[in-house]
Amino acid sequence: MPNLLINIDHVATLRNARRESFPDPVAVALECEQAGADGIVFHLREDRRHISDQDVERLKLETQTKLDFELSLAPDIVTICCRTVPELATLVPERREEVTTEGGLDVVSQIGRVKQIAKRLYDSGIKEVALFLDPSLDQMDAAAESGANVVELHTGDYANAQGPGARESVLDALAAAARRAHENGLIVHAGHGLDYDNFPLFSERVPYIREVSIGFAVIARSLFVGISNAVKEMLSVVKPT
Ligand code: PXP
Repeated sequence: MPNLLINIDHVATLRNARRESFPDPVAVALECEQAGADGIVFHLREDRRHISDQDVERLKLETQTKLDFELSLAPDIVTICCRTVPELATLVPERREEVTTEGGLDVVSQIGRVKQIAKRLYDSGIKEVALFLDPSLDQMDAAAESGANVVELHTGDYANAQGPGARESVLDALAAAARRAHENGLIVHAGHGLDYDNFPLFSERVPYIREVSIGFAVIARSLFVGISNAVKEMLSVVKPT
């Protein structure tokens, strides 16, 4: 059964909406850990629209579980990631005008650049470097060549699929990509748009998933039941007994 890492960016989005000092994403991260989350995910965006540099420093100091630092290929952000030395660094594409990460990284067309950045990250002491990728076999093959040791499969199209036909074809693509990544010796993660309702079918159909990164569904649910219960409910979905 996969491990569950909770993305806390949305807590910082809420804080920043009022330019306040609360709610504190670090305090929420610690509650997620207390509730049993296996790790914490954050994205330090180039425009700093949610997580700040200070949040990153505090997350590194105060969290006890696995830290997943999502970052673009921008050199100054890579430098901050190298200084932070999280357990996992996940490279994602980033466009300023997007509401959230849209689409996976295209490693096929920029393999040289990804190779260099992966090397910088490993050289700083980071043990796991992931690429956030759409579920295509070409991307899985390029990922293996890039030196990254993990792929995170983009599940956004699965979450957004309308109707059983569309859902089936995305699940087939995700399953094929997971198999190819595994055959290529890569560890497989998944994330984006996964929630309490769509996770069970995803989990039944897509093999080799070691970790999932889930944010929006859990933070939204926490408004009704509190963050601790929201995490526990998601744990019971991701790791049913
Ligand atoms: N994985 C990656 C690479 C992401 O960019 C995001 C969104 O921040 C997630 C996982 C989590 O997505 P969601 O917030 O929809 O659960």
